[in-house]
Amino acid sequence: MGGIGKTTLASSIFSEISDKFDGSSFLANIRDFPTSRGLVRLQKQLIFEILGERNINICDVHIGSIEIMRRLRHKSVLVILDDVDQLEQLQALAGMHDWFGLGSRIVITTRNRHLLVSHGVDYVHMVNGLNDGEALKLFCWKAFRNCLPTPDYFGLSLQMVDYAGGLPLALNVLGSFLFGRSKAKWKDA
Ligand SMILES: Nc1ncnc2c1ncn2[C@@H]1O[C@H](COP(=O)(O)OP(=O)(O)OP(=O)(O)O)[C@@H](O)[C@H]1O
Ligand SMILES: [Mg+2]
Repeated sequence: MGGIGKTTLASSIFSEISDKFDGSSFLANIRDFPTSRGLVRLQKQLIFEILGERNINICDVHIGSIEIMRRLRHKSVLVILDDVDQLEQLQALAGMHDWFGLGSRIVITTRNRHLLVSHGVDYVHMVNGLNDGEALKLFCWKAFRNCLPTPDYFGLSLQMVDYAGGLPLALNVLGSFLFGRSKAKWKDA
């Protein structure tokens, strides 16, 4: 689901473990690169972030795939492919296991679980929403700049959290909107 926290989780993994690999790359918002030209740009970015090589001549996606495999197949890499929405993107950026060296990890985030299955990934993890306690805490940080509600807003806060259903994006937006507003405005919202 959009806003459930896939990119947040992937970013957190990336900052925690990227130094354990020969090289790493975080390709964000891949859905914004639907054309072949966009894919070639991402292929160049992948090679640049891992090897620091900037002026590689890649004239099309097919050549780009060959270059990735040729240059990275002996490197242990961590690659995050964030927000993928087409199979072609996966084929262009991480076509096969043997494109990357032993110990590599490729993490893909997507709203479309079926893409992962079609591409033959090893493991699919469904990101769940926040539990009630976490959701209340996140909402309160936004709505009160504190981890708990003020006593007079307690009931309303629980209703909001219940309404947002553990979806971090909704908790963020609602909480930020309600910060400093009257009870009447809370009830309207
Ligand atoms: N565990 C969390 N704790 C606090 N805030 C979170 C958490 N997970 C996500 N968020 C916040 O929720 C919002 C949405 O998260 P994120 O962008 O990671 O969602 P997404 O699943 O990648 O959505 P999309 O499918 O639209 O790309 C962001 O503002 C993020 O900061
Ligand atoms: Mg995302």
